[in-house]
Amino acid sequence: MAAPAAPVRPKDHINLFRGWPNPALLPVSDLSRASTVALSTPSIYEPGLQYGPDEGYHPLRQHVARWLTSFYHPREPVTQDRICITGGASQNLACILQVFTDPAFTRNIWMVAPTYYLACRIFDDAGFAGRLRAVPEDEEGIDIKFLERGLKETEEKAIAEGKNEPKYKPPRPWRKIYKYVIYATPTFANPSMKVMSLRRREQLVRLARQYDALIVTDDVYDFLQWSSAPDSATPYPTKAYLPRVLDIDGYLDGGPQDEWGNVISNGSFSKLLGPGARTGWAESTEKVAYGLSQTGSSRSGGAPSQLTATFVDQLLSTSILQNHIANVLQPAYAERYHRTMSAVREYLLPLGFTLPSKPQEIAGGYFIWLNLPRPLLANDLAQRAMEEENLKIASGDLFEVCGDTTNVNNRFDDGVRICFSWEEACKLAEGVRRLAHVARRALMAAETGRYQN
Ligand SMILES: Cc1ncc(COP(=O)(O)O)c(C=O)c1O
Repeated sequence: MAAPAAPVRPKDHINLFRGWPNPALLPVSDLSRASTVALSTPSIYEPGLQYGPDEGYHPLRQHVARWLTSFYHPREPVTQDRICITGGASQNLACILQVFTDPAFTRNIWMVAPTYYLACRIFDDAGFAGRLRAVPEDEEGIDIKFLERGLKETEEKAIAEGKNEPKYKPPRPWRKIYKYVIYATPTFANPSMKVMSLRRREQLVRLARQYDALIVTDDVYDFLQWSSAPDSATPYPTKAYLPRVLDIDGYLDGGPQDEWGNVISNGSFSKLLGPGARTGWAESTEKVAYGLSQTGSSRSGGAPSQLTATFVDQLLSTSILQNHIANVLQPAYAERYHRTMSAVREYLLPLGFTLPSKPQEIAGGYFIWLNLPRPLLANDLAQRAMEEENLKIASGDLFEVCGDTTNVNNRFDDGVRICFSWEEACKLAEGVRRLAHVARRALMAAETGRYQN
């Protein structure tokens, strides 16, 4: 049985679209204390308020390295030389493209689809508009055969066209220009919540090595995980569910093919502290981490978010952040997830909605993806939900890879995303119930031939 629907007035707005943390989950007092310590300690605020090192605030790099080692357990401990402090995953994606791609040489961008749609503009801005390609997501997280075929065909064409040299990016000792970028969120993907299997992660690394591709993984939800079974004896795992694609590049077939490697892990404090912190980290080989720090905007004044990095460092070095994740975020998101899922099971599955894959043992992130019963269309359903029930949801077509128009694998008008991180917890089940009302009416209209979209 789903949690009883909350006493919400029928037409109160319910927002299951917004992918932000609920304000109650922001660690305001922890941040307030951390900033007070930082701003009253000269050895912290002096470097914090000055231009900092290109690769970022050293104590934070050190503490991030230690923290990642204890969470991911890679075969070799993470060292601070592999870490660059960033302005968050989105800002850093732009920096990665500035340093490691050239739009005249890098052939295209492969994006696991449905994709985190806001990444598309970042690729467009780096000169790749019209060259973003959707790779379908299958049960195991990426259709590797599709990607392999696509890489092979593109490479043959590029060779025939004589795409041999970067044109816009002069050679520098700290940069390597890759032929391809593969973009994915392997763990608790936005929007599908899928987790890429270990086997697929390994296949992906091998393919990237073969085709000189840089895999950029947004590993922004990894820490937000819980058992899918509400009554599990170990509800909140403290260790990563699977090794990152980066960790696999670290050991597979003897480790990275060269000093650059083929993977960057893009991490963020946005989902752990608050998106307004605009602070994150990137981990890669030392060579790539250093190259990233040499992007023009970091060379001019040091890594972004220098002052915030000192606050974050206070929280990490004292385990306050780790405790916040374990004691506040994991239980709160797990509770929100279970409430929403139980309402989905009660109200939506009986109408023919389906979940995209078999339930995994661990769930995480912010989102649930739902496939619609035919003949419902996502855009129409989202519009009706807003008009009839004052309910906002995300229509699947939002998550198409921009500009990849001829690809039949890039159509998601048969799915919707609902987010359980933002709305008040007491409104989650009610939001799902309202969605069921809208869907039921639309399905009845379809049965009587009155459904038009
Ligand atoms: C997959 C993914 N990457 C990146 C971001 C944004 O990260 P940041 O706030 O660090 O730029 C989000 C936020 O929703 C996301 O879902």
